[in-house]
Parts: sequence; structure tokens; C-alpha cells
Amino acid sequence: MAHLISPSVLSCDFANIQRDVEMINQSTADWFHIDVMDGVFVPNISFGFPVIEAIKKHATKPLDVHIMIVNPDKYIQDFKKAGTDILTVHYEACPHLHRTIQAIKEAGMKAGVALNPHTNVNVLEDVIADLDLVLIMSVNPGFGGQKFIQNAVNKVKQTKDLIIKSGSNALIEVDGGVNLETGKQLIEAGADVLVAGSFVFNSSNPTQTIVDLKSL
Ligand code: DX5
Ligand code: ZN
Repeated sequence: MAHLISPSVLSCDFANIQRDVEMINQSTADWFHIDVMDGVFVPNISFGFPVIEAIKKHATKPLDVHIMIVNPDKYIQDFKKAGTDILTVHYEACPHLHRTIQAIKEAGMKAGVALNPHTNVNVLEDVIADLDLVLIMSVNPGFGGQKFIQNAVNKVKQTKDLIIKSGSNALIEVDGGVNLETGKQLIEAGADVLVAGSFVFNSSNPTQTIVDLKSL
């Protein structure tokens, strides 16, 4: 499978959100990456349901929603209602991860689990068969524009091994500090989906930057 690109809306111009959504619609990107931050699980607050609903109205591609919040179980139905296609929770925020994954799937969404840079891939061993997506964080979550943590490349390889060993269909997505150089290393290591925020939206030609990432 050719790899997928999920531009992170966190780096778009919020005063021109419809324009930036249309840019992604027209581009070779595959998904919309949407970062929800609560100021508790991560030291930043981004946006919530009204913004996701507004994006959904215009988006012609799946919404890949990455929630950096405590108590994600409380909001699973709300994320579905807002238009989420793939819902990714953090391992570190879910004491009953198996239950959370089942609830996401019962609500009619694909289920993903994100791992912070310090969390070992092995913690997913007993749930990997149930997952649609594993999100490897290559920065500490909370902000766009941070420096890529190189160890993420090893974690992608470890995740790939785990997926093959277990017969899981999960995709491997990587988020944080992705550019052409880090993106290439991640694809070679086995990544299926690249998230890119600042690299896309701070470039002079975001549509072309998405093509460049897609062509890696
Ligand atoms: C970070 C977010 C990322 C962020 C990536 O907490 O999860 O999705 O938008 O931004 P860049 O690509 O600029 O590192
Ligand atoms: Zn993200």
C-alpha cells in the first residue's frame, strides 16, 4: 500500500479554516489530522466539537482525530456525532484501554492508540489485534513545530514487528516533526501514515509539499 498523508489542521490559519480545508480536499492528501488538546493531559488547549463539526461540513476526506485529553471515554459519542472517522486516544490517558477501544468501535469509528515518546511499543501487545491504527508520537504532544525525536524510527520498526507477529491489520501513523527527511526514514521503517502540520502549512506551496510527502 502506498503511504497516506494526514495534514495537521492545528497548523492551518484558523481565520481561514474553510480555505485550508478546501486546499486539503483538492490536494493529494488522504486524511485530515485533527488535534484536540484539553490543557490537562497536555500543556495546551486547541479546539473542540464546534470546530470539528465545521471542518466536517467541508471535508471530503476522512477525519483522523487525535485526542490528547483525560477521560476520553466520556466523549466517544460526541466525537462520533461531530464527524470523526478514526478516533485515536492516548495509551497514557486510558486505564481501561481495552474497554475504550471496544467503545470506539461500537460507536462506529475506527480505533487508534497513540504512544508518547517514553511509552514502549510492547504495552500494545494484548490489544494490537483489535486496533485499526497505532500512532507513534515523534514529539511530546501539545504543540506543532517541535523537533523530531529520532527514536521514533526504531519504534516504527518495533510496531511493524508486533503487527506482523500478531496478524493485526493496524496502520502505523507517525506524528510530530515530519518533513521530507524524517518522513523518508519513517516510510523506510514501515510507517503507513505521515502526519505533517508546520511542514505543510508553513511552506510556500502547501499543495506541492503534500505531493512531495506523498512521493517519498
Ligand atoms: C502535536 C500534534 C501534532 C502536530 C504536529 O501534539 O499531535 O499533530 O500538529 O505538528 P508538526 O508537524 O508541526 O510537528
Ligand atoms: Zn496529532
